[in-house]
Amino acid sequence: MKFAAIIDCDPGHDDVMAILLGARTLDFHGITTVHGNASLEHTTRNARQTVEFANLTSLPIAKGMPRPLLREVHYAPEVHGESGLDGPVLPPPTVSLRDQHAVDFIIEQSHTIPDLYLVPTGPLTNIAAALLRDPSLPSRIKGISLMGGSLTFGNSTPASEFNIWCDPEAAHLVFTSGIPIKMVGLNVTRQVPATAERVAQIRKIGRTTTTHVADMLDFYSVRLIKEYGVGGGMHDPLAVAALVDPEILRFEPMHVVVELKGEHTYGMTLCDGRHLRPDNLAIPGPTGIHEGAPPNAEVAIAVNADRFWELFLDILATYP
Ligand code: BDR
Ligand code: CA
Repeated sequence: MKFAAIIDCDPGHDDVMAILLGARTLDFHGITTVHGNASLEHTTRNARQTVEFANLTSLPIAKGMPRPLLREVHYAPEVHGESGLDGPVLPPPTVSLRDQHAVDFIIEQSHTIPDLYLVPTGPLTNIAAALLRDPSLPSRIKGISLMGGSLTFGNSTPASEFNIWCDPEAAHLVFTSGIPIKMVGLNVTRQVPATAERVAQIRKIGRTTTTHVADMLDFYSVRLIKEYGVGGGMHDPLAVAALVDPEILRFEPMHVVVELKGEHTYGMTLCDGRHLRPDNLAIPGPTGIHEGAPPNAEVAIAVNADRFWELFLDILATYP
């Protein structure tokens, strides 16, 4: 059975990988775009180019929020280039956008699609705006599988991961919404880098789509390997994989709060994992010692990278 889902994204190289994986493995109802890796204009153009080269033009694309709820906007040209998708040479897109705001699209789909999942792979502004606009939304969303946050350290700051750091107030609204959440954070996604060997395997498939993907990953990952010694993580497709194959990621229930006040920790996802302590001091018991707030998320704690790549390479081979 395929899960019904919308991918809410800021393409972004790894967001494209999430779209390509999701289009074959989810009951995929559409793409919503948000600011993040680049401006909303750029991320939306990149989503349109993706559905064109991958022959997915029947997927609706709705454009969303251009900036965070409260804070100033930030992009990531150092990782994704000025366009948000530097690397391949793609023609200007011609496919139409949906004539509806992403927030309205999400709310409308929640009324018509039973058991709808949201898969956010960018800042959480669209999802938060939908929650603000329609407080009854949580009752119609089956779950959220998001790429964001970290159980360990961040990337935008020592404490904070990019998607959460771009709009921490939005993330706070999502984590307190009551919707069941799977949090796929940097602590696992960094363990699945697009190495030069993986990029070569993709290029070898030899289709138009896989050539574009390999060109993307050459920019996104091979360049990062040269500059920093570590390739780009396959962050976003892992949020899709979490719904597709239960063997790829292992989760533990935790209470997650998004830090909104810390001088050094603004945007951090603080995960209460005390019950995982090896000395078991934190096991909730009659004394109440270390009993924290009840879990509001399933947090990914381990990943099987080889199994992810097996799935992803098989899926890529199905594209034109
Ligand atoms: C996240 O930030 C973006 O650059 C990627 O697309 C991913 O969603 C990783 O921190
Ligand atoms: Ca992203």
